[in-house]
Order: sequence, then structure tokens, then C-alpha cells
Amino acid sequence: MSDLLAELEQFESEAIAAFKNARDARELEAARIEFLGAQRGRLKELQGRMGPELRAADKETKARLGSKFNAVKADVTAALEQRKRELDRPAAVAGGLDVTLPGTCPELGRRHPLAQTILEFKDIMGRFGFTVADGPEVEDEYHNFEALNIPHDHPARDPLANFYLATAQAADGSGARLLRSQTSTVQIRVMEKTQPPVRIISVGRVYRPDAIDATHSCMFHQMEGLMVGESVTMAELKTVLRLFARAYLGHDVHIRFRPSFFPFTEPSVEVDMSWNEPGKPWLEIGGAGMVDPHVLSAVGYDPDRVSGFAFGLGVERFSMRRYGIPDIRLFTTNDLRFLRQF
Ligand code: PHE
Repeated sequence: MSDLLAELEQFESEAIAAFKNARDARELEAARIEFLGAQRGRLKELQGRMGPELRAADKETKARLGSKFNAVKADVTAALEQRKRELDRPAAVAGGLDVTLPGTCPELGRRHPLAQTILEFKDIMGRFGFTVADGPEVEDEYHNFEALNIPHDHPARDPLANFYLATAQAADGSGARLLRSQTSTVQIRVMEKTQPPVRIISVGRVYRPDAIDATHSCMFHQMEGLMVGESVTMAELKTVLRLFARAYLGHDVHIRFRPSFFPFTEPSVEVDMSWNEPGKPWLEIGGAGMVDPHVLSAVGYDPDRVSGFAFGLGVERFSMRRYGIPDIRLFTTNDLRFLRQF
């Protein structure tokens, strides 16, 4: 009887070791047949030899041998099941790390085409000695109009032509705030704080309640440029704009000024560009001019001592031209098929 108990224990440790060491389902099945096979398995064989001894044994021995047998069978079967589960999980193969699993590839983001354009603008203008200035998108009327020589009754100040904020304002309208309609506001903010010479650009969003179509949006970007110093002239303005356009779009770009009017520049021009492509019309890309003496005085500069030029260019116009983008709405609809192309 003690022989059988020892044999059962021996069987148990050998079977559990065999299951644990099985490296795949095929080896595990072979071990199962060897130890637990219903016909010729080693447990079956042990059970066969236990029969005669049990019949001869007393009640107490019967009980001990029987329960040992059952415990061994349960433990060995559990070891088999556990190994089966482990082998079903491929991660178990290399000790918890399955180097054959496909990796999870993190999606790489990329810059929005307009962000790319703006960075390039800043880079190009930086090479010409222009530093970057910023101003708020929510502006007061002084910076958006007054200081830019745009009087009270000017149509540009029409409530229907601007996004005024529904904030508290005095009965006479003072204290009104609006989403800036142009980046020229930053000219004023910079000149208020700096003495000439000044050479800055400012790139940012502007807002106008325009009807939205392929070339108009109620929000778009402008790059404002301002250069003030002793004897700054239109010649510098044209040179800077031409160098800028060529740096961004290529050497076959031509630029043309058309007389125009802005309250804050005198003289004022519209800026057109064209490419050496037959049949391509001139494209209007912004306004410019010599800073009006009124504006210089308003910020405390002496218009008899310094002069300056300013320009405001539409960023989307350049970006659309550069990348062949047919519709300005593509910039803001967040279609990944569009955005992934840049
Ligand atoms: N602020 C003008 C506009 O939005 C453009 C401009 C800027 C014109 C600077 C002249 C000088 O149309």
C-alpha cells in the first residue's frame, strides 16, 4: 500500500513536469496520452494495479488510497488544462513577450497646410530682418479702426460688416469689442510700444461676415508687415514683397501695384501677382502702402522724421496657389484625406 502511495506521488510529479515542459499543443497531447490516456495511460495502469490491493485492504486504507488517487488525478488534470490555456495564448511562448505579435503603429500627426505656410512665411521674412509680433483676436475699436484712421462713419465700421461682441458698452457705443477684421491692428500695438526703426510681421486670424464660397470664408489669415524708419520708401515695399513672393512661390513670380485706397496708408495699392504661365490672370493677394502720417502721429511718431510701409497679405491665397488647393473651405472642414496630403 505504501508502494502505491509513493507511485501515485511519483506519477503526479512526472505528469505535471511533462505537461509544464510541453512546448506546443502536439507535445502536450502526447504527454496527455502517456499519463492520462483512457486506454493505456499510466494512471489507468496504476488504477488497474490498485484494484486487487484495494479489495484486500481495510476500510481506512481504502479511504486513504482512494482519496489520494482522486487528488492526484484532479491535480494532474488541472495542470494539463492550465498548460493548454497557456499554449492558446501566444504571449506565453517567449515567457510573456510574444515577439511575433504585430506591433501597434502609433499614427504620426502632421502640420496643417496653413500652419506649414505660416511657418515658412515667418522663416522667409525672418531672413529679411522682420521679427514676429502678435496681437489679440478680440480687439477694441480704437486699434481696429480709430488709430488706423478709420473714422466713425466709415462703412468698414458697419455692424453688419464686422463681428461685434455682445459685451456691455456705453450708450454712445464706446467700449465695444469685436473680432479683428484685419491684422493691421498689430501695427498700432507694436508702434505704441516701440520706437522706430520697426520691422515686424504679424500672422493671424481675421474675421469678416462674408458669404462663404470657394474663395471666401468668414475667418481667414493675414500676414501683416510693417517697416518704419528714416527714409523708408515704396521702393523698399515693392522689393520686400517681390523677394517674399519669389522665396515662397518661385522665381517666375511677378508683382504689380494698382492704385487703391486704405485709410491708414497714403499712397495705397492693391498687390497682384502673376506667374509665367500663359492664360493665368493676375491674382490679388493683398493691400499695401506707405503708413499715413496721421497713423504715425497717433502712436507718437514724428512723421517728418520717419516714414514706413505696411502690407497685409492673404495667407490662404498663397497656400492655395502653392499647393493647388481649389477651395478655401478645405482648410477648415478637417477631412483627413485632404490633410494627410501635406
Ligand atoms: N488691412 C488691409 C486689409 O485687410 C490690408 C492692408 C494692410 C493695406 C496694410 C495696407 C496696409 O484689407
